[in-house]
Amino acid sequence: MVRHSHDVIRHTSDTVVKTMIKGLKAALGAVAVGLLAGTSLAHAQSADDELVKKGAYVARLGDCVACHTALHGQVYAGGLSIQTPIGTIYSTNITPDPTHGIGTYTFKEFDEAVRHGVRKDGSTLYPAMPYPSFARMTQDDMKALYAYFMHGVKPVAQPNKPAGISWPLSMRWPLSIWRSVFAPAPKDFTPAPGTDADIARGEYLVTGPGHCGACHTPRGFGMQEKALDASGGADFLSGGAPIDNWIAPSLRNDPVLGLGRWSEDDIYQFLKSGRIDHSAVFGGMADVVGWSTQYFTDSDLRAMAKYLKALPPVPPARGDYKYDASTAQALDSNNTSGMPGAKEYVEQCAICHRNDGGGVARMFPPLAGNPVVVSENPTSVAHIIVAGAVLPPTNWAPSAVAMPGYKNVLSDQQIADVVNFIRTSWGNKAPANVTAADIQKLRVDHAPISTYSWGFGGNDTATWGVFHPQPYGAGWTFAPQTHTGEDEAQ
Ligand code: HEC
Ligand code: HEC
Ligand code: HEC
Repeated sequence: MVRHSHDVIRHTSDTVVKTMIKGLKAALGAVAVGLLAGTSLAHAQSADDELVKKGAYVARLGDCVACHTALHGQVYAGGLSIQTPIGTIYSTNITPDPTHGIGTYTFKEFDEAVRHGVRKDGSTLYPAMPYPSFARMTQDDMKALYAYFMHGVKPVAQPNKPAGISWPLSMRWPLSIWRSVFAPAPKDFTPAPGTDADIARGEYLVTGPGHCGACHTPRGFGMQEKALDASGGADFLSGGAPIDNWIAPSLRNDPVLGLGRWSEDDIYQFLKSGRIDHSAVFGGMADVVGWSTQYFTDSDLRAMAKYLKALPPVPPARGDYKYDASTAQALDSNNTSGMPGAKEYVEQCAICHRNDGGGVARMFPPLAGNPVVVSENPTSVAHIIVAGAVLPPTNWAPSAVAMPGYKNVLSDQQIADVVNFIRTSWGNKAPANVTAADIQKLRVDHAPISTYSWGFGGNDTATWGVFHPQPYGAGWTFAPQTHTGEDEAQ
């Protein structure tokens, strides 16, 4: 109570009452925690406002809200479905509700869950919770995060949903083996000596709380990320497998497949507003921008951009990008015989993406030289044409712009043709062997397009391996349901 005395003087009597209740709650909470967990009262002292505020920001950095909120659900009350190879699991209630949430967690128990992946009852969490990345969060950030979840979040009495996984796969003990093999021991992030301060901050944000690698790094045999930081070599952030039929492209400096032709400022603008002259956010990344990065401070965004541009170079897999004007000439002169997909492109797409593939800056992204269009696996490109997308409004770019879906407009063959067309036009040089059958599987069964037989190797063989080898197909990732198009950014 004493800690709130300065508030009492400053605020109206209404606030005084609220403040007192808050203090009382904290005091009662302290008693409850003390009784239940048998620990000292010391850590449950009334929260420091600054610390809570800092914790709210750390929660933004970790995008806790996107996974721990169900579609149209109450904030942090859990219940969002997440697909794993063995069935659906649900994120949990992390509000301070003492019965259904984490209200009785001590700091140590909270830290165990977030950084070690171990629950209060000692069982291991599914790595859908990105604790292998959170493992490097600093004690300072963890303390702030704890203060926020205990004192800055509204308790919600919503029970957790049981996972839709049946015995024996529901047993959690194999997860602890996974954890001991693949999850790093938690250790506060410390940059390599002599690292530029901004780059060090960027590295912390990208590899730690931001868990960018969860989608952007390919996964290995055990579904583990192949590299958790740049010391893991060229795999780190080199582009992921389809998640929910969206593909997170490479964030390395490849000029065709990655961010090689993006400037630091491009990355900064993209993470802040979701759109730049030559790209627009969609799929799983729309959740990341809408719920997380748009709220980062400018200096944090610039630090991440600087870090990404400073990553060690990777050999360009397909050379450099060079614009080829012959596609636009053919389309302008209506001379498209022998170019499957060109007619559909002119009729359906060119009004927005233009004959020259250049789009309209900040409205309709260009398709020429766009890394997402030429990614090795065409699932994402086909998916956006089948299903359409809404470019989410952000605080920095408030208008919502839509890309129509074509699943009821074009046949499977026409969609396959147009995908192959844009992947090979204007200087784009991607494999163009998408078939009508691929599109049908994507459209009807929501199955990603397999590139296994194309000789690229790589991600497609990843399974949950030892626990339950699973043929390649939909539902084998740890993909959280995306809120895009469902919920306003919060
Ligand atoms: C990519 C999705 C995702 C993100 C991001 C995420 N979580 Fe989780 N979290 C989960 C899932 C799924 C579970 C439940 C896993 C299970 O049942 O084994 C979980 C479990 C937890 C638990 C354990 C709860 C319990 O019952 O013991 C805590 C605490 C937690 N998360 C806190 C956080 C915090 C804090 C953040 C942000 C810094 C965060 N999570 C970000 C998916 C996520
Ligand atoms: C939930 C999965 C997911 C997470 C987590 C994620 N991304 Fe993405 N990201 C994607 C997908 C999917 C795309 C492709 C769609 C697009 O370009 O918007 C993408 C695209 C991008 C692009 C544009 C690349 C291009 O060539 O168009 C950048 C830059 C980016 N992400 C940066 C980040 C950073 C930085 C983080 C961590 C703070 C991050 N992403 C976390 C899924 C994710
Ligand atoms: C009414 C305008 C409009 C039409 C018509 C249109 N698009 Fe789009 N397209 C968009 C917008 C807006 C986006 C960005 C959507 C987002 O980011 O959520 C987009 C995104 C895309 C992307 C992802 C590129 C990126 O970086 O975001 C591809 C690929 C694409 N469109 C292909 C096509 C094809 C092929 C057609 C025709 C079959 C087509 N579009 C028709 C407006 C349009």
